[in-house]
Amino acid sequence: MTDLGFPLAILAELTHRCPLQCPYCSNPLALEAASAELSTAEWKAVIAEAADLGALQIHFSGGEPTARRDLEELVAAAAAAGLYTNLITAGVLLSRERLAALAEAGLDHVQLSFQDSEAAGCDRIGGYKGGFEKKLDCARWTVELGLPLTLNMVVHRQNLEHLPEMLALAEELQARRVEIAHVQYYGWAYLNRAALMPTREQLEDATAVVEAARERLKGVLVIDYVVPDYYARRPKSCMGGWGRQFLNISPAGKVLPCHAAESITKLTFDRVQEKSLREIWEHSPAFNAYRGTDWMPEPCRSCERKEIDWGGCRCQAFALTGEAGTIDPACALSPLHDALQALATTESATDEGSFTYRSRKAGEAAERLPERIDS
Ligand code: SF4
Ligand code: FES
Repeated sequence: MTDLGFPLAILAELTHRCPLQCPYCSNPLALEAASAELSTAEWKAVIAEAADLGALQIHFSGGEPTARRDLEELVAAAAAAGLYTNLITAGVLLSRERLAALAEAGLDHVQLSFQDSEAAGCDRIGGYKGGFEKKLDCARWTVELGLPLTLNMVVHRQNLEHLPEMLALAEELQARRVEIAHVQYYGWAYLNRAALMPTREQLEDATAVVEAARERLKGVLVIDYVVPDYYARRPKSCMGGWGRQFLNISPAGKVLPCHAAESITKLTFDRVQEKSLREIWEHSPAFNAYRGTDWMPEPCRSCERKEIDWGGCRCQAFALTGEAGTIDPACALSPLHDALQALATTESATDEGSFTYRSRKAGEAAERLPERIDS
């Protein structure tokens, strides 16, 4: 057996509850109910198992993780287990007192999302009125409490024109890092693809803005930049390879190789209530399905990049072709690559502006996803 290593980072999706309704949410279309969520004791057991397995970091996410009243207790458990703790939050439910209590419990880092650089866009895209002002407060409190702050900005056709202002906001709020992440198209984002897809010109402009800002802000602000795969020539190394460095635990305890893995409807996933995390990591059929390089078809199998990008993204391959074990169409060596770029160009030129916002009801109704490129 190849050396499995261990999951460096755990994404703990504590809940799918969230006051925001972003149309590119990374949660599955079928949101898990509050009544199905793991209990405090179950999460604490999972945290201890993750540390035992060798994990170094835990990201508390959701939905909105601060919707869980026991978040302080879970942060304290993770800190006591020696894990680096990161809170991924929309910020709108936090008070200064609660943030201070989380810092006191051992929180190491805050990653705060903004949907735009100004109130109207931020509140419209997130589907939450008054959210922008609350986020500003949250950012200021984070810095006042001495916690490192990362701003997370998801960019797309409807907010890319504000990219310079987004970077200025990160600077003004004294963030140490900003992640400018073009939307990746699975789940909710796949459903809203025509309303989100940037034009190639927008992408080129954005890349130039980021490169200039990186130069200007060297030593002040770290800028991470995630490009949209649909315009790429080679795919990203998604999750650093399936089942290599990362695992995700859903609110109800399903253990997934990535946050979007449930979109691959042919796979089934083990639960922490039934098996140990170690057993799942090492033996789960879902983790082993696309681990390493043995599963790869040509041209990946004989490609020099196969241990660099690991054949790209399984969820994207599945969404676009109905087959997860195939070359990611984002790769120029895929026979579907030209069709993917043509689709991106066409969708970016539509005047589709309205979103299907994330909600339980919309998820249940969303049976029809946009066309696949192999059909
Ligand atoms: Fe990556 Fe496969 Fe493309 Fe090679 S052929 S660059 S391994 S996706
Ligand atoms: Fe699942 Fe890329 S998001 S493998």
